[in-house]
Amino acid sequence: MERLDKFISSRGTLSRSDAQKRIRRGDVTLNGEVCRSPEKKLDPETDRVELSGQAVCGDEHIYIMLNKPAGVVSATRDNTAKTVIDILPPELRRDGLFPAGRLDKDTEGLLIITDDGDFAHRMLSPKKHVEKQYVAELDSEITPDMIKRFEAGIVLENGTRCMPAKLKIAENSQNSTGIVTICEGKFHQVKKMFAACGLKVVHLQRISVGNLYLDGNLPIGSAKKLTKLEIEAIFVGKIH
Ligand code: URA
Repeated sequence: MERLDKFISSRGTLSRSDAQKRIRRGDVTLNGEVCRSPEKKLDPETDRVELSGQAVCGDEHIYIMLNKPAGVVSATRDNTAKTVIDILPPELRRDGLFPAGRLDKDTEGLLIITDDGDFAHRMLSPKKHVEKQYVAELDSEITPDMIKRFEAGIVLENGTRCMPAKLKIAENSQNSTGIVTICEGKFHQVKKMFAACGLKVVHLQRISVGNLYLDGNLPIGSAKKLTKLEIEAIFVGKIH
């Protein structure tokens, strides 16, 4: 059973407080009868809700692919900087959204934003070893020795040993762009791994999480809704 106001706000673009206002105003019917009680409980499987005559339906949770631009923070709130939630288009906004994982302020690329805590927990669980792929532009050349060190598990400057990672040199990059695959998520991990090899990351972009790839047609700063089925690609091939 779900509260009427939560049901409406979690399936549309109304915030919880706007849903409450509309319910109190008499704009909402439950099984054909006007219901003015936001706290009224309903069964999402069987009960029928209409808002100004339009059926309220759809999925309980939302999954958004954002092509994160540099300059915005992976947080829900920030005192000074814009957040990844601030830049979402109005039609994708709703209460309870948060980024599932984080990219540094200057990192671009694939970020999932959702209101599904269970899903985010599953995706971020260190036990799941979900692979994340990054394109890293560097200030200097990648050497064969560095590729071996990534494979063996880089020891960071503070002594922490990382799990084995893949490093490939991107074609036509004069050896100074790497495609990195890691399956953990330490703070500033990719930058620190290269720093341990004496290289500086000058641009970083995430291109995949598990088997979910950044849509090449999605401009930087744009977002699109994914289905639960699309998002489950993250776990394809994984035991979970
Ligand atoms: N590794 C980093 O150093 N930064 C990111 O944003 C993601 C991974």
